[in-house]
Amino acid sequence: MYRTHYCGDLISGDIGKNVVVSGWVHSRRDHGGVIFIDMRDIKGLLQVVFNPDKPIFKTAEDLRSEYVVKVEGIVRRRPEGTENPKLPTGEVELLADKLEILNDSQPLPFSLSAYTDVSEDVRLKYRYLDLRRTSIRENFLFRDNLLTITRNFFHKHGFVEIETPFLTKSTPEGARDFLVPSRLTPGAFYALPQSPQLFKQILMVAGFDRYYQIVRCFRDEDLRADRQPEFTQLDLEMSFVEEEDVINIIEKLLAEIFEKLLGKNLKTPFNRMAYSDAMLKYGSDKPDTRFGLEIVDLTADLKGTKFKVFADAIAKKGCIRAICVKKGAEFSRSEIDALIGKSIEFGAKGLAWIKLFSGGFESNIVKFFSAEELGKIKAKLNASDGDLILFVADSSKIAPVALGQLRLFLGEKLNLIEEGYKFLWVVDFPLLERDDLENRWTSIHHPFTSPKEDIMSISLDKETLSGIRARAYDIVLNGIELGGGSIRINKTDVQKKIFELLNIPDEESRIKFGFLLDALNFGAPPHGGIALGVDRLIAILRGETSIREVIAFPKTQRGICPLTGAPSSVTDKQLKEIYIKTM
Ligand code: AMO
Ligand code: AMP
Repeated sequence: MYRTHYCGDLISGDIGKNVVVSGWVHSRRDHGGVIFIDMRDIKGLLQVVFNPDKPIFKTAEDLRSEYVVKVEGIVRRRPEGTENPKLPTGEVELLADKLEILNDSQPLPFSLSAYTDVSEDVRLKYRYLDLRRTSIRENFLFRDNLLTITRNFFHKHGFVEIETPFLTKSTPEGARDFLVPSRLTPGAFYALPQSPQLFKQILMVAGFDRYYQIVRCFRDEDLRADRQPEFTQLDLEMSFVEEEDVINIIEKLLAEIFEKLLGKNLKTPFNRMAYSDAMLKYGSDKPDTRFGLEIVDLTADLKGTKFKVFADAIAKKGCIRAICVKKGAEFSRSEIDALIGKSIEFGAKGLAWIKLFSGGFESNIVKFFSAEELGKIKAKLNASDGDLILFVADSSKIAPVALGQLRLFLGEKLNLIEEGYKFLWVVDFPLLERDDLENRWTSIHHPFTSPKEDIMSISLDKETLSGIRARAYDIVLNGIELGGGSIRINKTDVQKKIFELLNIPDEESRIKFGFLLDALNFGAPPHGGIALGVDRLIAILRGETSIREVIAFPKTQRGICPLTGAPSSVTDKQLKEIYIKTM
């Protein structure tokens, strides 16, 4: 028998018991003839004492970090003054009677307690050691709890968990597909799903009413802190619903997770913001509303301006946007130059500024503005003495985004970001977006999103198309896109019309989505759903800056798994079997 108890479970109520525990030597200390080890298992640490009068003392002298041991002994109260209030087992220790070394360990490539000096590549190469660290292990225990609460929640609310295929056809979520060659159909490929989108819609046609799945999705895109090539979605779909129904179920789920896992009362309903407001005030479709510093439009107020940079932007149908940094007038010239540099990095052509001092204005550009214009600027930005106003003049695509990123940069730099969790629904998205490079329309979400307007009876001119809104909603947490969804198209003619607007020829839409078009012909109910990024949710709730900290075996930024060495080359024989020639 390896254990009667877990190390981390023993408390003062166990004093006097004879117990057996198994685990790892976390650390070892020699104290004038007495050996102490901290023994570790999944539940935590336990202090074990070896006295020199016992025959096992010699074996205890051989113990090194990460040896695997089994210890039997009596639980006793630690001598007064030696308790460790930081450990749940800190009141007790195990006086060892028997010791068995179950396995030894080589010296470790990095310390399990000091985090800082190890590169991520090394951590991931020895991920099994990295995962022994308390803080990262807790991420996975948290993840398990969150997923258990989620599964119970959906089961309770009548959702059916159904698995959908990984070897499938391309789903257009906007990324590149991972392809898998077929051996049985030479020259043909499966695509790994970017999401279960089409299958979940088909499950609604099949009459399941409410579906959910905690499912891996695959997207071949450039990786970042919140992007992995394979990641987990909480995916769901519901029949006979409208936007409110989907939004409600997600708010209920998140409230339950917050209550059960964090002991926090989440205020619902969450705030909502129209996409156009998000872009105007925050320069982003995922606004971080934990701080102010909102963007203001000055285009109309400055339409007669003599400042050439601004006048040129207006003449080109662009806009002038600004933010007011409270107490920013203290910024030195070099600090302002750094902000100008940042704004150029963010895509702006420049950054103009005005400081407010004792009722007056100070800047190299003040001379270009009339007193009336300066008054308008000051009033609109609610600025007062000591503030700094920053302006970007550019196209209506670039100005908001550049200033939005500058806003985020300043929020962090000036410590404006409030602690806590700010959820927000972004709604009223446009359905389509113009891709000027490719000279065509693309879906902002995906092509199965239902339009708000009746598109069967409208003209196809540019103005009308850009005005159509989507029945879509994104959920944002602390400025990160947590999820997105929509009410779907459930009529074949509407779906065909959308493909037509997206310039997807009939033959192509038949080849790619024929099965969906067919299914919509057989009594498809009104339906809609959403998918949340599970890794992102867990990372935010655990205060981690990268989702790699909450994925057991993640890839590096370059898409590599340092543990296994994937991706790796394969034999010529394997390639031949799947009819692939490499160059
Ligand atoms: P969408 O493409 O918005 O929607 O994806 C939903 C959520 O999944 C997360 N996510 C990612 N997380 C980590 N790494 C990635 N590479 C990655 N890509 C996306 C985000 C995102 O909000 N089928 C639709 C949903 C629907 O319409 O119901 C979909 O997949 O948190
Ligand atoms: P210039 O006339 O190019 O020397 O620019 C005068 C001021 O306007 C400088 O402070 C520039 O940083 C700023 N500026 C230049 N282009 C822009 C722009 N597109 N938006 C805002 N300010 C700008």
